[in-house]
Amino acid sequence: MILILDFGSQTSQLIARRIRDMGVYAEIIAGDSPLNTSILAGVEGIVLSGSPESVYDNGPMPDPSLYTCGLPLLGICYGLQCMTFNKGGTVKPLPQREYGAIRLHIHTEIDERSSAFLAGFDKTIPLEAIKTGTARSKAAAITITVWMSHGDTITELAPGFLEAGTSANGFPALVVHEKEPWFGVQFHPEVTHCERGAEILAAFVFGLCDCRQSWDMEHYAEHIQQSLIEKVGTNPVLLLISGGVDSTVAGALLLKSLPPEQVHLMYLDTGLMRKDETDHVTAKLSKLGAQHLTVVHSEDEFLSALAGVEDPEEKRKIIGDLFITVQERETARLGLPESYFLAQGTLYTDLIESGKGVGTKAHLIKSHHNVRTPLVAAKRAAGQLVEPLNRLYKDEVRRLGRVLGVDEETLNRHPFPGPGLAVRILGAVTKEKCALLQEVDAIFIAELKERKLYDKIWQAFAVLLPIRSVGVAGDLRHYGSVVALRAITSADGMTADVYPFDLKDLLEIATRITNTVKAVGRVTYDISSKPPATIEWE
Ligand code: XMP
Repeated sequence: MILILDFGSQTSQLIARRIRDMGVYAEIIAGDSPLNTSILAGVEGIVLSGSPESVYDNGPMPDPSLYTCGLPLLGICYGLQCMTFNKGGTVKPLPQREYGAIRLHIHTEIDERSSAFLAGFDKTIPLEAIKTGTARSKAAAITITVWMSHGDTITELAPGFLEAGTSANGFPALVVHEKEPWFGVQFHPEVTHCERGAEILAAFVFGLCDCRQSWDMEHYAEHIQQSLIEKVGTNPVLLLISGGVDSTVAGALLLKSLPPEQVHLMYLDTGLMRKDETDHVTAKLSKLGAQHLTVVHSEDEFLSALAGVEDPEEKRKIIGDLFITVQERETARLGLPESYFLAQGTLYTDLIESGKGVGTKAHLIKSHHNVRTPLVAAKRAAGQLVEPLNRLYKDEVRRLGRVLGVDEETLNRHPFPGPGLAVRILGAVTKEKCALLQEVDAIFIAELKERKLYDKIWQAFAVLLPIRSVGVAGDLRHYGSVVALRAITSADGMTADVYPFDLKDLLEIATRITNTVKAVGRVTYDISSKPPATIEWE
C-alpha cells in the first residue's frame, strides 16, 4: 500500500485514484497525522501531496518520523517544498506563478536508484514495462511537458539533494536525494494533462517502492468486509436507505458481511420520491437478503408540513428538519440496544469540501440532510458510526456494488435530490401535484431507457411549473398544467451541459406525455446549462 499525506491539495484524491487504478492500494490521511507503527503497517512508500498553503507561512507539516521511517518518499509540489524546508533548504514566493503546461529538462548523473524513477520520464519505456518494477532509464537528457501550479519555489536545495530536472523558467522541477530514497517533483503527475504522469507515478510505486499489482475491487471488498466485522462485532447495525446507489451498495455490503439478522435497514417514504420508489427499494433490498427492512410511511407528515409553503429555501428547511424528527422517532421505535452502530453510505467526495482533504475539518461537509443529523453526531462521538465507502469515488462504489451483486439498474441510476419532488414542484406542494409529476417523470425516464439514451445522460427529470396554459382537447378548451423536461450531461454535478436531444426524440416524448397524462397541456425543454442555472429548479 502507498500512503498519501494530504496537505489540502485539490488533487490529493487523484493521486490515490491513479495509484489504485494501477492495482496498488492507496490510502489518504491528513498530512500532519502521527506516523505510528499501526498507520505504517503494510505501507511501501509515502507520497506528500500539494497544498494551497506555504511552508514559510505556517503550512501543515508532516510528522518528523517521516524522515526516519526508511520508506521511499515522493514529494509533489508543496510536498517537495516541505521536504526541502524540513531538511534545511529554502523556499520563497515566485515573482510570477508557474501555471499550466511547462517544459521540463532532465539532466542528471544516473545511478541505479534514480534510473528506476527516471524510467517514468523516458518516452521510450511503456507503462506496462514500468509496472513490472524492473524498467530503468539510462537516458542522459530528457525533455517532457509537465503540468504545474505553484506560487512558491525552491531557491536553495536542502543538503544532500540534487537538482535533476529544471523547468523552462529555470526553477528546480525534479529533485533527487543522494543517498536516501527521496524524490520530489514540482509538477503534478496525477493530472491527466501531464505528459508521462501515470508512468512517473508508476515508476515510484513499482520501481522504487517495489509494490506489486495485487489490489482490485474483489480484494477491497474483502478488506472492508473484514474491517466492518471487526468494528461492529455482534452489535446490531442500522442503515438509512434512500434508494440511491451509495446507500444501496452500503446496504449490500452490510448484508454480505454480517449475519442478515444483525442488519437493520430503514427507508423513509416522504411522498416526495419517484413513482413506485418504495416498491422498488423494498424489492431490491429483499433480493440482497434484507430481513429487517422498516418502511416508514411519513407521506402525510411531510405533505402537511409543506402545505401552502412556496419559498424554495423554506421547503428545503422544513423537509430537512422533519427528516431528523422522523428519523429519531422511528429509530427509537425500533428498540435497538444502546450499543447499536449507525452505518452511512458516505463517499470520499462527500467528505471533501473543495480540497480540504480527510483531516479533522473534512467531516463537516456534505449538505445532504442525512449526514449531519444529531443522531449521526452522537453515534460519531460514541465511536459507533461506520462509513465503509468513505475512501471511494462514485465509479469505485459502482464497481464494488457489482462485486457485491447489486443489479446494474440500481448502480446506473441517475442522482435524486434529498428533498425530492418538493424542489421540482415549483410553488406549493400537494399530493395531487406529486402524483402528476411522478407520472410524467416515469414516462420521461421510461422513454429514455427505451431509446437507449438513459446511460448517456447524467441526470434527467421532469419539473412541474406553477402556471397553467390554454390548449385544446377534442374540441374543448383545456386549461392544463405545464411541465418542463430537464436532461443534462455532467462529470460531477458541479457544472452541467444541456443534453442535445435529436428533435424527433423530444417531440415523441412530449407527445406521449400529453397523450398519457391528460392534466398536462404543454411540455417544454429546459435549455439552460449550469452555470448560470442549477440542475434542479429550486
Ligand atoms: P444543483 O441543483 O445544485 O444540483 O445544480 C446538483 C446535484 O445535486 C443534487 N441535489 C441534491 N442532492 N440533497 C441532495 O442529496 C439536496 O438537497 C440536493 N439538491 C440538489 C441535484 O439533483 C444534482 O444532481
